[in-house]
Amino acid sequence: GGLCGWRRRIARNARMGDFEVPNFMVKEEIETLLYSADDIKERCKALGAQIDAAYGKLDKPLIIICTLKGAAVFFADLVRELHIDHVWEFMSFSSYGTGTTSSGAVQMVLDLKMDIGDRDVLVVEDILDTGNTLKYMIKQLHAREPRSVKTVVLLHKTEMTIPGVSADFVGWQIPNKFVVGYGLDFAQKYRGLPFIGVLAPWVYKKTDKVADGSILNGDVTLPQTGSGGNSPAP
Ligand code: IMP
Ligand code: MG
Repeated sequence: GGLCGWRRRIARNARMGDFEVPNFMVKEEIETLLYSADDIKERCKALGAQIDAAYGKLDKPLIIICTLKGAAVFFADLVRELHIDHVWEFMSFSSYGTGTTSSGAVQMVLDLKMDIGDRDVLVVEDILDTGNTLKYMIKQLHAREPRSVKTVVLLHKTEMTIPGVSADFVGWQIPNKFVVGYGLDFAQKYRGLPFIGVLAPWVYKKTDKVADGSILNGDVTLPQTGSGGNSPAP
């Protein structure tokens, strides 16, 4: 490219320092901005091209399954980058765990409307973390004898993933940090952010969770805007 590495990094960091947040939150709730709206747009375009190329010509439209709720925003952007013919389906799974980690106990809470027998299926997931959700989902799908099942995840937290679970298409591999935005939530918050950022640990460390991941005691004290309140709460 035209810019050398450090120039590009400085330009990028300056741009990232400029991010704005909606009124329902303060900027300090985001510790680091990981991917900007522009980064994500570019990555979706590339993933779309990869998926187009991988399927080539199909005799029946590809069945694309969006996993609710987290993948909704990614799904909406990704399908608009595809040139292959496809139809939409939705599924939802819940996994029991604390607010920031999932457990192995996964349950289907929304099932498909369509028969996927002898069809090519692409699963769209927001994030692959332990892999418990994806593993369970793939098993459920295979029982219905589709022709093929592939997976695309926007983010892959590789450190935590159980052996034998991976995705065919990956947006980015990320470290084991809790991220929000672009569909990803913490306690149902932050899904509408147009970027992906690391949630500041003080936001969830002061919060008690119950077994189903909902918040029991969410009275977290927010720092004043501009106070630089990034340090963990006492
Ligand atoms: P897994 O079963 O551990 O792979 O977790 C998958 C699900 O957990 C994802 O579909 C997300 O809903 C959620 N999840 C995992 N990591 C994060 C995160 O960093 N932010 C928000 N949600 C997450
Ligand atoms: Mg979630």
